[in-house]
Amino acid sequence: MPLKMIRQDITKMHADAIVNAANSSLLGGGGVDGCIHRKAGPRLLAECKTLGGCSTGSTKVTKGYSLPCQYILHTVGPIWMGGHAHEAELLASCYRTSLELAQEYHCQSIAFPLISSGIYGYPVDQAFQIAVNTIHEFLNHHDMIVYLVLFDARSIQIVEHILNTKIPDPTTTTR
Ligand code: AR6
Repeated sequence: MPLKMIRQDITKMHADAIVNAANSSLLGGGGVDGCIHRKAGPRLLAECKTLGGCSTGSTKVTKGYSLPCQYILHTVGPIWMGGHAHEAELLASCYRTSLELAQEYHCQSIAFPLISSGIYGYPVDQAFQIAVNTIHEFLNHHDMIVYLVLFDARSIQIVEHILNTKIPDPTTTTR
């Protein structure tokens, strides 16, 4: 299955799992994390409080609650420090551990945001390249529908420039 890129609000994705770009407390925040908590409802925070946080590069799972997905995979991306603080391997680990957890939970489809590329400041082009490489490595050996969901205009512009193509804007997405 190829990696599919779309422009969308990830909370609208009808995938088995969506990935949250969380912080190590797992207790909510801004960006995509804030959107997911708002739309999933307060039961999500209640479950997150039982998880004991999460280290950078790792991933923990909760239910999807009011979202159309079955699971939310909360991963903690690295804060961009200039590129010499193991950011690349930690970011790759976010994608890898999320994909492995999705497989463990028998997910057939998963949607990722561009982890670390917002509030955490990772350069969009580099964050995108790591996402694509790590997802492709996984898809070489596993069967899963993987979406990379782009949201803000600047990221979409940068990715469209890298790919030299338009990112589709579906009104509905399917499993
Ligand atoms: N759907 C899809 N992508 C989104 C959405 C959405 N609804 N909202 C934002 N994005 P960010 P980070 C994109 O900042 O950089 C939080 O406070 C956004 O445009 O959400 O990993 C956490 O609690 C960008 O491309 O996550 C952490 O403290 C991408 O998601 C911190 O921010 C990631 O941006 C994590 O920062």
